[in-house]
Amino acid sequence: MAFKLLATCALLAIQAWVSLANPLLSSTSDSVSEELVRTPGGLVPKSSVHAIPEGARIHHNSTHVQLIAADGSIIHSATTSKKISTRPKITGTPTSVAPRTLESGYVAYSYWHNTDNTTNGNIATYSTTWTVPPTPQRKDGQIIYIFNGLIPASFDGILQPVLQFGSTPAGGGNYWAVASWYLVGSQTYYTVPAQVKAGQSLTGVMSLMSTTLNGPTVSYHWKSVFTSVPSTAFTLSTTEVFNYAYEALEIYYASGPTDLPTGKTMMSNITISTVGGTHPALNWTAISDSVEGFGMSVVSSSSTNGAVQITYPA
Ligand SMILES: *[C@@H]1O[C@H](CO)[C@@H](O)[C@H](O)[C@H]1NC(C)=O
Ligand SMILES: *[C@@H]1O[C@H](CO)[C@@H](O)[C@H](O)[C@H]1NC(C)=O
Ligand SMILES: *[C@@H]1O[C@H](CO)[C@@H](O)[C@H](O)[C@H]1NC(C)=O
Ligand SMILES: *[C@@H]1O[C@H](CO)[C@@H](O)[C@H](O)[C@H]1NC(C)=O
Repeated sequence: MAFKLLATCALLAIQAWVSLANPLLSSTSDSVSEELVRTPGGLVPKSSVHAIPEGARIHHNSTHVQLIAADGSIIHSATTSKKISTRPKITGTPTSVAPRTLESGYVAYSYWHNTDNTTNGNIATYSTTWTVPPTPQRKDGQIIYIFNGLIPASFDGILQPVLQFGSTPAGGGNYWAVASWYLVGSQTYYTVPAQVKAGQSLTGVMSLMSTTLNGPTVSYHWKSVFTSVPSTAFTLSTTEVFNYAYEALEIYYASGPTDLPTGKTMMSNITISTVGGTHPALNWTAISDSVEGFGMSVVSSSSTNGAVQITYPA
């Protein structure tokens, strides 16, 4: 398997590749002259990646995104544009004919689209439990991200508790670590990664804490955290509704299966509840780069104890 060669080819065609492989960033191609770094949301300019200090929160509305410190001071502010909300083709491309676009990026994922757009039907909690996989046999600069995440219908952002391996824009190294991330447009925010061990159980939880009204505009206040790692917590207010749930394995710079864990990772204990307190059936769509030996299968579509399984190439 020529993972690295394919990744290099992809780099030569960054613009095409970004829009193909990355559900979120199809309009950031104006930044290609700047150094790009590989976040869980794909390639973004290094200067737009920001650490979230303890106690800070993110404020996102239709015109701005701001990082606000615990004392209320604004650490970072940027404008957002609705123009970036190009709906990606997340379905319909058979992986067998598009292995290259999946080679780096989302190589195995499942998503569920919540089609109930009533207030009571909105997603209010989304959690998933998984075990930190074995450390890859070979360590040569690869990045691995495993996460559950929530995405709005505009596809301009993702909220995600992320398990990472490797040196990412958030830090880390040749060990597993966890952090919460929010990516919106070309801006990326993360909590400082905290080291975890192979075999440790993780539960990534996103919860709608409250909603507030400002005139006609509803703001949704979310918290993302790994339950056993309080330093991964931050809160986000956004005026968008999250109506896509993702379970994903994302990789960069992997030169072969020995750069990856072995066996399978069960994304389990999947729980989704709505504002109205119901547990909708989850109609997952599973997609994987089967040509390279990745697998993603739906084990249970329950939203009280559901499971999807990632298989690594042998
Ligand atoms: C978005 O938030 C910013 C910063 O708080 C504020 O200046 C702006 O007026 C808000 N935009 C809208 C459309 O409410
Ligand atoms: C809700 O979904 C229905 C059917 O998919 C659609 O016709 C309607 O425009 C949607 N409403 C909102 C507010 O998005
Ligand atoms: C299942 O997830 C819930 C959060 O939704 C968590 O509190 C619980 O500990 C998890 N169960 C296991 C066995 O990890
Ligand atoms: C489940 O999703 C598939 C593909 O997205 C769609 O074709 C099908 O109609 C959905 N089924 C239900 C029951 O929502």
